[in-house]
Amino acid sequence: MPNLAGQVVIVTGASAGIGEATARRLARGGAKVVITARRQDRLDALARELDPSGANFLPVAGDITSESDRRSLVDATLAKFGRIDALVNNAGYGTRGPVEIVPVELIRKNYETNIFSLIALTQRVIPTMRTQGGGCIVNIGSVAGRIARPLSSIYDSTKHALEALTDGLRGELKPFGIRVSLVRPGFIVTEFIDAANAASADVIANAGPYAPYYKGYHEGTTKLRAFAGQPDDIARLVEKALTSDDPAPRYNGPFHAKIFLFARWLLPRRVIGWMVRLKG
Ligand SMILES: NC(=O)c1ccc[n+]([C@@H]2O[C@H](COP(=O)([O-])OP(=O)(O)OC[C@H]3O[C@@H](n4cnc5c(N)ncnc54)[C@H](OP(=O)(O)O)[C@@H]3O)[C@@H](O)[C@H]2O)c1
Repeated sequence: MPNLAGQVVIVTGASAGIGEATARRLARGGAKVVITARRQDRLDALARELDPSGANFLPVAGDITSESDRRSLVDATLAKFGRIDALVNNAGYGTRGPVEIVPVELIRKNYETNIFSLIALTQRVIPTMRTQGGGCIVNIGSVAGRIARPLSSIYDSTKHALEALTDGLRGELKPFGIRVSLVRPGFIVTEFIDAANAASADVIANAGPYAPYYKGYHEGTTKLRAFAGQPDDIARLVEKALTSDDPAPRYNGPFHAKIFLFARWLLPRRVIGWMVRLKG
């Protein structure tokens, strides 16, 4: 079983929420952690807190959607630690709004962050892992990658795409000793909702005939948030994947996520559609 101690792990989106909790957990386990996100002040503060010596921690500020930032991230990791054992593809955000109204540029932007940049960074680390004889890639998906909801279909479709991508990648990289898993969080208390609302503020403000449904959507989401887990619930699953010789294709958590996914498997689509329907 791979030991966390000494593993060089890149965690994207580590300035908040699940990524930050993952960086904390991996650092506690003795990994050499490289963290990235756009907010440099947060990365620097986390690095100072977790490893004041700077020997085992590397903050590299950058935008995941920038080709040059992705290159700098990989170059800086190899310059400091000389290898890459694992990549946790966590950076992501949501777009709210009906498909009819969300401008295509916003849809592209969401796919650019959640899918295309994730693929591009993964492409960048694979050659190093292959040369080393193995590695591990953990993608952070979502229950939304199995259950799409009205007014959230843009974001949910990025996570559906990630399901397929992860499965294909797992098969492609298996011969090279690179393990690939998808971790699917349910509701987790993070900055996610604030970020989604900020990214979609204009759409929400100009929702036209869909406006009455936002209230119901918001109320439904708020109710479900009562079940919300903590970021470390997901960090624990990432650690599990990283420390397994043969990680599961999927890790789901916390408990309510398992229930939703079981219901999705069990119930006809028509019933699931009724459960997540718009309420005015
Ligand atoms: N919270 C939930 O309920 C939930 C449920 C299912 C799945 N997820 C997934 O979990 C992952 C983490 O989300 P979270 O809940 O922890 O949200 P969060 O608290 O908003 O954190 C998102 C992280 O992604 C980073 N990020 C966003 N856009 C970026 C970009 N262009 N370049 C670099 N970094 C970027 C943010 O950093 P900067 O803003 O500093 O760049 C931040 O560190 C996401 O993939 C999300 O889809 C979350």
